[in-house]
Amino acid sequence: MTNQGTNLDPWYDSYADRTAGLSASEVRALFAVASRPEVVSLAGGMPYVSALPKEMVLGSIEKVMHANGPMALQYGSGQGTPAIREHIMQIMALEGIRGSADNVVVTTGSQQALDLVTRLFINPGDVVLAESPSYVGALGVFRAYQADVVHVAMDDEGLVPESLRETIVALEAAGRPIKFLYTIPNFHNPAGVTLTWARRLEILDICRSHGILVLEDNPYGLLYFDQPAPQAMRSVDDEGVIYLGSFSKTLAPGFRVGWALAPHAIREKLILANESATLAPNSFGQYVITEYLDQTDWKGQIDTFRGIYSERRDAMLSALGEYLPSLTWTRPDGGFFVWVTLPDELDSKAMLPRAVKELVAYTPGTAFFSDGQGRSNIRLSFCYPTPESIRLGVSRLATVINGEIDLLRTFGGASMMQSIPTRSGVGNPPPNIL
Ligand SMILES: Cc1ncc(COP(=O)(O)O)c(C=O)c1O
Repeated sequence: MTNQGTNLDPWYDSYADRTAGLSASEVRALFAVASRPEVVSLAGGMPYVSALPKEMVLGSIEKVMHANGPMALQYGSGQGTPAIREHIMQIMALEGIRGSADNVVVTTGSQQALDLVTRLFINPGDVVLAESPSYVGALGVFRAYQADVVHVAMDDEGLVPESLRETIVALEAAGRPIKFLYTIPNFHNPAGVTLTWARRLEILDICRSHGILVLEDNPYGLLYFDQPAPQAMRSVDDEGVIYLGSFSKTLAPGFRVGWALAPHAIREKLILANESATLAPNSFGQYVITEYLDQTDWKGQIDTFRGIYSERRDAMLSALGEYLPSLTWTRPDGGFFVWVTLPDELDSKAMLPRAVKELVAYTPGTAFFSDGQGRSNIRLSFCYPTPESIRLGVSRLATVINGEIDLLRTFGGASMMQSIPTRSGVGNPPPNIL
């Protein structure tokens, strides 16, 4: 064992190569700062679990302990309980998915399903296609397995099929193995946009014709505001799509229960990988959730969440319109996030310490790319703070952004004001906003 360089970790030389891909995400680093009570955090995407009545959960826990205590406290099957898998089929039917509960694998949140799928398919250097931008937690997994993430353009209708086609053709010409397309079609994290139905079909066609698997990640689909999102991609393709779902946003993330619905052959391998990673998913969580789904008005509870998030989305969009009218942003129809584009000259990561000083936190856009893009973007989350806090947070953000603009204007950024879009983004995001 040697201790080279400036690294003080005595085991530095012993780590496997893939640990080079393990780094704390920018979101994670922010949690420490943003958790100070005086900071308005528009950074993390924490569901507003306080809106879940305590009695609803307590009742389910008590029932489980009385009726099934020893089973719920025991190790379970590596695939998940049959009862919760049946419920999961009914939940997915709300988005048009039909199939067999036998092809569902319950996981420790959908995050673990992401990990297992990547583990099954990725050799170092294999290509994963992902939207531009993409979910920071997925990028972390892909990095950990040494995948090469290639971003594909999005606009306000989601992933752009033509860009996908061109990217695939270019990668194939270069002899690069493309293993799957990772996509978040509904209320995208971080972009806040939703993939149209026509594009879903076109993207499936493209992937099918190039032999590329689609990994459809849909934790936000049921959290729509005005009307449901288009049906799931998996609803029209049961061989070429692995679908990921979760109870984290529609119930609570603390249960750590999510799932994958996979083509049968893949599902077999997923179960083995699940057993190897955790022996079995959380038994107690599965029993409590099953009881909750059996005994409570869980759809009514999702309606309550939708109402709360919709009001918060409105608060954020109107505050942006009022305090930062010269910027552009997306207008989400569900989910948790708004994606804001700053003037080119601003660096959202460099600006963050100043924002924290002003007692507001956001996530810099660079967190959502594997290739350094996103400097002039920020992700704002409206799921957790109250509408009043959101207004306060956005007004503080405006102080920071306007201060940076003034500084640049004073110290040589003379052309900068011309580059600031003059049109408000409310309700009308330009196609190239992402
Ligand atoms: C797009 C997306 N996928 C997956 C996850 C992971 O969710 P969980 O592991 O809680 O199911 C998240 C969480 O924020 C997410 O935003």
